[in-house]
Amino acid sequence: MVKSFDNNAKTLQLAMKIIPSGSQTFSKAPHQLPQNNHTPNFVKKAKGAWIWDLDNNKYLDYLMALGPIILGYSDDDVNKKVLKTLNEGTIFSLNHYLEVECAKLLTDVLDNTEMVKFGKTGSDANAAAIRLSRHITKKDIVLTCSYGGWHDWYVGTTSRKSGVPKKITQLTKNFIRNDINSFNNVVNQNKNQVACVILEPFSFDNLNSDISFLKEVREICTRNNIFLIFDEVVSGFRYNLEGASKISGVQPELSTWGKAMANGFPLSCITGKQKYMKEFDNIFFSGTFGGESLSLAACIATIKKIKSKKIIPYLYEYNSKLTKLINKNIKDNKLDKYLCLKTSGPRSIITFNSKNELLNRKRKTIMMQEFIKNNMLYFGINMPSYSHKNMELKFTSLAFEKVFSKISNIYKNKNENKYINGGIIKPIFRQR
Ligand SMILES: Cc1ncc(COP(=O)(O)O)c(C=O)c1O
Repeated sequence: MVKSFDNNAKTLQLAMKIIPSGSQTFSKAPHQLPQNNHTPNFVKKAKGAWIWDLDNNKYLDYLMALGPIILGYSDDDVNKKVLKTLNEGTIFSLNHYLEVECAKLLTDVLDNTEMVKFGKTGSDANAAAIRLSRHITKKDIVLTCSYGGWHDWYVGTTSRKSGVPKKITQLTKNFIRNDINSFNNVVNQNKNQVACVILEPFSFDNLNSDISFLKEVREICTRNNIFLIFDEVVSGFRYNLEGASKISGVQPELSTWGKAMANGFPLSCITGKQKYMKEFDNIFFSGTFGGESLSLAACIATIKKIKSKKIIPYLYEYNSKLTKLINKNIKDNKLDKYLCLKTSGPRSIITFNSKNELLNRKRKTIMMQEFIKNNMLYFGINMPSYSHKNMELKFTSLAFEKVFSKISNIYKNKNENKYINGGIIKPIFRQR
């Protein structure tokens, strides 16, 4: 059956007139999809591991809303708790009791956590943790090596820094991840001025390199009175339930969480020991929607289910099967000249190898285009959920066989330009 994309196209036309970039999220903007007459630009609904677009075309998803969907879309257990809460109200003139219930649950399950402060997004949590570290250390400079959200402190380090005051951009410095000399240099160049280092604890390098780097960073931070902040917005509730400090043996002063903690409801938090967290009393981090009840209900239901159904080991197991499947298809189709799969525990990513960045984007556009034809919404990022079961794995296997044999021929014959049916996906912004 020939698929229709008419409603997707019509809605995109309107969106481009009334919403800047046609999207609220950079990674979901139309320029991040292969734009042609067959583009699923808008979602109608999603359940489990599957998404339906506005024309009722159905896709298997692996991006899972950029990470929050750890149980599966529209999870029945989360929905049940949220609907009960919804009937009693969402936001009030006083604090809701679920704030305390949820904070208690988090102090019980998370390592290194005596107090919890909630926000709505990962960006919120990171900005607040940085402010707290500046307040306590009485220093200003922030060091980082990973994406940290849309606020000035981070975006000032990127090619999209326009609009961030120059003075602010000078307060954040980058270092190279897992390169202790690079980290040491930036600390020494900013002697006695560094308030904090904020980084994702785990990368797609090997876990042992990540851990030994974290240990070295911890030592240098302690010696120099620098706060270490683990940004667990992606790793949290996916690598384990307790947090990266349990895996690495390295304790940060603060940790930040978001994405998967409420299976798709907007909730984030900052956690740490009471001696640091109680200093929130003396700075300002506050919002009308802080403590909104539905996200707290969703978080409680999500964490309880992660625990009771042993979801985290399941994610590792599925991702390991997926890794084998993808690597086999790379090998069978001799695609390793063009791309590779990097796996880190419960997640993995396909990266393109050419030094020619435009060619990489053309190849990725073609890959995405071909997966869409095979009913997979595939950005090369694998964040499997508990709803990815054997049926989904079989579906994935068939799609990879078809798509990888086709793109291998296209790449080998240098036919990229011929096969792109529309726009080429744009780069995600770079650090300066
Ligand atoms: C590691 C990391 N930190 C922070 C953020 C920001 O989170 P949010 O988009 O919820 O503001 C993201 C978002 O992708 C992220 O990947």
